[in-house]
Amino acid sequence: MIRLVAFDAYGTLLDFTSATARCAAELGDKVSTVSDLWRRKQLEYTWLRSLMGRHASFRQVTLEALEFTLDATGLQDPDLKSRLMALYDRLDPFPEAAAAVQAVRDLGISTAILSNGDPDMLSAGLESAGLDGLLDGVLSVQVAGLYKPHPDVYRLACDHFGVEPAEVAFVSSNGWDAGGAAAFGFHVAWVNRAGAPPERLPARPEIELKDLGGLAGWLGSL
Ligand code: LAC
Repeated sequence: MIRLVAFDAYGTLLDFTSATARCAAELGDKVSTVSDLWRRKQLEYTWLRSLMGRHASFRQVTLEALEFTLDATGLQDPDLKSRLMALYDRLDPFPEAAAAVQAVRDLGISTAILSNGDPDMLSAGLESAGLDGLLDGVLSVQVAGLYKPHPDVYRLACDHFGVEPAEVAFVSSNGWDAGGAAAFGFHVAWVNRAGAPPERLPARPEIELKDLGGLAGWLGSL
């Protein structure tokens, strides 16, 4: 029986491409390059820092990834950098996000965020997206001092809600995060928004959805 649905935040409920999209005039034809490289570097730095044992806040990692990206694309503009960082705290939700979280609540299942984001980033982002009132918990990896996909991070959800991994359904648009959560023992739905091929990792998600719309139907089948 599923007692908790834990959602990833960035890319799953919150659309990180909305930050660069709002700076489309300044970024010109580099908008998708900046968006993709910023995200890729942000994730790489979380993995590298976890391996190095040199944790830093997600805000710092996000800023350093942006600085690399702006250097790499020849866009070293301090105002642009500040604007993009500010926009990261008020990303657009995906259009179906609120209804999908509400549909989980309607099934009588608890809802939470389990994210790399710092607590202040998550509270600002969820409030701005209008999702804050739909969640029973907002869990940041910060207390673990490690980033996803370390198993200690997924364990935070079990400890906080007093549930076993098999009682948790985890939802992420990131294939590698879906793989990490499946390896930990969660039921996992991969929201494959980008139509990516499956990750070759030791554990795979149970279901692939194109967006959050099919989530309640899958939960009903478990
Ligand atoms: C998060 C990133 C991985 O919210 O999307 O944890």
